[in-house]
Amino acid sequence: MSISKIASIEKRLQIKRLVGATRIVAPIIESDVVKGLTQTPKSLPPRYFYDDFGSELFEKICELPEYYLTRTETAILQQYAHEIAKITGACELVELGSGSSTKTRILLNAYNQLGYPLRYLPIDVSAGILESSAKQLLADYPSLQIDAIAGTYELALAQLLPTQLPSRMICFIGSSLGNLKPHECDMFFSQITDALQVGEYFLLGVDLQKPKQILEPAYNDSQGVTAAFNLNMLNHLNRQFQGNFDTTEFKHWAFYNETEQQIEMHLRSLRSQTVELQSLNITINFAPDETILTEISRKFDLNNLQQQLTTRGLVPIKAWTDSNQWFGLLLCQLQA
Ligand code: AVJ
Repeated sequence: MSISKIASIEKRLQIKRLVGATRIVAPIIESDVVKGLTQTPKSLPPRYFYDDFGSELFEKICELPEYYLTRTETAILQQYAHEIAKITGACELVELGSGSSTKTRILLNAYNQLGYPLRYLPIDVSAGILESSAKQLLADYPSLQIDAIAGTYELALAQLLPTQLPSRMICFIGSSLGNLKPHECDMFFSQITDALQVGEYFLLGVDLQKPKQILEPAYNDSQGVTAAFNLNMLNHLNRQFQGNFDTTEFKHWAFYNETEQQIEMHLRSLRSQTVELQSLNITINFAPDETILTEISRKFDLNNLQQQLTTRGLVPIKAWTDSNQWFGLLLCQLQA
């Protein structure tokens, strides 16, 4: 890449770091881990999957034959991105959990083709993936402006700059909504409505309910990538909190809980063991077969979800699915 091109990329890129850099946000995050590991049953926030290596593993998951989610949502976006862009008109795209931004390119292409200015505000907990994907995007879209935030959704949403284009669309695709328990979902929707002006948009992609014969393999792939992704959370905690988890003493376990309509991912302790997290000042005891819940991945009913969004003032103006109705994409608009 030429020097002048690199310079122009730097000018169009702004990255604000809310994670890692400051002590102000750290205690909130740390207390999550202490709380989760000292209660029964044990749990950890899925956010800890995404250190730089975990984000890479997640990219691999998205390409697995069993993991139909990414492929299906991508196809829906490819088919309807133009329609979405025509409905919203020129608008800036805020993306929660942007990762590699692969699917976002489909949206950017649609806005670009309609001649709209391109402004993108990606938010991700992994600063590494945020920076590398932002630079790639800027090299590929010469008129694109990026204001990235490395941080949790909650903190980043509360710090968004005022909208600079006629409208704004917050994109929450990839079914990450499934990680939230019902009451967390409610709080999350309030954060979205607080971050939007009346008339602005919310694009939501969700995995839909389906037989467990299809769901379970997606979280128990034959190459063991999902198992590695799950176990990597322990490495992340070791590094971040001076811990001594031994990843060979835990095993990946995922199943579909039909009553709750959610995939549950756990790490199961293979024996009785004690783990320390020095910088958090905690010692954790595990019984043989005791588990840590690392993720729930809820599967939605499109009609119920549309009703819930409507009562929150986020009115679905259009919904799209694939031919199997495996995945749903909802375009919502904040009502007065
Ligand atoms: C990113 C939350 C949508 O729940 O399917 C993939 C994460 N976990 N394989 C999901 C995940 C295991 C993923 N989400």
